[in-house]
Amino acid sequence: MYSEIKDTLDFITSQCRLQPVLGLVLGSGLGAYADTFRNRTAIPFADLPHFPSSTIPGHSGNLVLGNAEGVPVVALQGRVHLYEGYSISEVAFPSRILGALGIRRLIVTNAAGAVNTAFKPGELMLISDHINLMGTNPLIGPNLAELGPRFPDMSDAYDGAMREMARAVAGGLGITLREGVYAGVCGPSYETPAEIRMLRTLGADAVGMSTVPEVIAANHMEIPVLGISCITNMAAGIQPQKLTHQEVIDTTAIARKQFDALLRAIIPRLATND
Ligand code: HPA
Repeated sequence: MYSEIKDTLDFITSQCRLQPVLGLVLGSGLGAYADTFRNRTAIPFADLPHFPSSTIPGHSGNLVLGNAEGVPVVALQGRVHLYEGYSISEVAFPSRILGALGIRRLIVTNAAGAVNTAFKPGELMLISDHINLMGTNPLIGPNLAELGPRFPDMSDAYDGAMREMARAVAGGLGITLREGVYAGVCGPSYETPAEIRMLRTLGADAVGMSTVPEVIAANHMEIPVLGISCITNMAAGIQPQKLTHQEVIDTTAIARKQFDALLRAIIPRLATND
């Protein structure tokens, strides 16, 4: 894998010399933020050696380098998921590339269903922690000591200091920012009502089909992570109607304004190179 990372990195640096300090993973319907970067270089995932390419509508796949709020950043506009048939280490490969580009911090975002019945669709949730229910782990296989330790600590998987900052920023903007535990499942079928009751018993506040592989890889590389979920729907069994991907897309479009405003205010606070 190390030589694959190097291939991809060499390709990217041949296209753009920017040295990003911050990485962004922009989930379902949230990728448009990267279109606002200054001096942007967008490289389609399909052009990047060894990069998995997204197959889902609403997940245009580009790696975008540029300046956001004056900060050199790299964003993944869209991501691939385990349910698309990629292995979990392939799903985590783009995060490896962000790490190899030298980012000091990572912001991961996603669309998620509310398991916590106090939450409402359209709200944003700061991820305080996750539960990996994908039944696998991106670090399975030989450990690459150049990347990180065999048994990485996950007790501050979503960096406490960045969460505190995000709470303060949201408060200043008057944005309701919920906080809770994200359960990462494989999908692609949505959960059953019984599974949602189980997730609630386990301590989950939201559920989704992404993020966990990237966050494990980032923690392995000792890159602090900030996670934000866009609550797109109440999880299965909470409301009488059925869940649809269209509902997820429509709600994300509504929440995007607040989401972009929050990112715009958070990013300058993460400009540091240390
Ligand atoms: N379940 C799983 N993943 C999701 C959901 C959900 O309800 N909403 C958005 N992503």
